[in-house]
Amino acid sequence: MKFIEYKSLIQDNLKKYFHEYSKNSSYSSEIWESMAYTTLLDGKRLRAIMCLEVARLFNGSFLEAMPIACSLEIMHAYSLIHDDLPSMDNDDIRRGKPSNHKVYGEAIATLAGDALISFGAQLIIDKMKNKMPDDVILDITRDYLICAGAKGIVAGQCADIKAQNKEINIDNLKYIHKYKTGALFKCAILSGAKFANVDKDILTKLEQYADNFGILFQVYDDIIDCTLTSAELGKTAGKDKLENKMTYVSVYGLEEAKNIFYSLINENHDILNSLGIHSDIFDDIYDMLIEKVKK
Ligand code: IPE
Ligand code: IPE
Ligand code: MG
Ligand code: MG
Ligand code: MG
Repeated sequence: MKFIEYKSLIQDNLKKYFHEYSKNSSYSSEIWESMAYTTLLDGKRLRAIMCLEVARLFNGSFLEAMPIACSLEIMHAYSLIHDDLPSMDNDDIRRGKPSNHKVYGEAIATLAGDALISFGAQLIIDKMKNKMPDDVILDITRDYLICAGAKGIVAGQCADIKAQNKEINIDNLKYIHKYKTGALFKCAILSGAKFANVDKDILTKLEQYADNFGILFQVYDDIIDCTLTSAELGKTAGKDKLENKMTYVSVYGLEEAKNIFYSLINENHDILNSLGIHSDIFDDIYDMLIEKVKK
């Protein structure tokens, strides 16, 4: 399966789920419109793709994990909508289009984020029932819910907001990245692995792989925030400096941030090698990120 094939399958399934679940919503139809708006805009779909690819690497019937993969994109959309709110990063552009609150207003955007969290969890339970053992469904849904909340994305976002306009230590910075961004990548990789029923020692290695990926991905995001244009980013360029955010670039400088990014990629190559695994999809993802960091 190619990257682009994964991407279009994920898009088709997301559309299908929104269509199915938004029926007969009468007076609340706007909330579904708003939820679908950000989710269905053109994102890279990395979290869903990584979940499916890990499932494929360890278990042939990976397409059956599609509802789990889609739930991750749904959670991701929640995090983006809330991240852009005026009370958070105050960003008017997302995925090259007006942010959710610019189209639907702050109240609906906030509610859409809330509703997306529960929609994703419901999707896992509804669609995976009788396809996986109940205890695995429970485990994956539990991971999903932890990831969305105060032991996951919310923990990181809270630390990110608290660190604004401050000097923080490296531990604090790492914590922010590990949770605001890393939690969801970890959830994606481990849910694919749990779907495939991998052994405990493989899971432990994948956990390290996912933690590294979460950090390196946010370091990448910190780098391109100050090197690419708004048109290239599909979101406002230079936002981190403007908002006085603590990032790997503000703390380490651009060159050292790039070194950290590359060294985490190398570590991850070593982890996959030690598992005896090769994935063209993961290679494509790293190439995609490297190409933007090099610009
Ligand atoms: C943006 O994530 C938010 C971060 C965690 C940095 P992506 O760069 O994956 O956004 P999309 O899904 O492609 O729009
Ligand atoms: C991403 O942090 C964290 C989440 C969206 C949860 P950023 O604030 O850097 O993400 P962008 O740059 O707005 O996409
Ligand atoms: Mg933010
Ligand atoms: Mg932001
Ligand atoms: Mg950013």
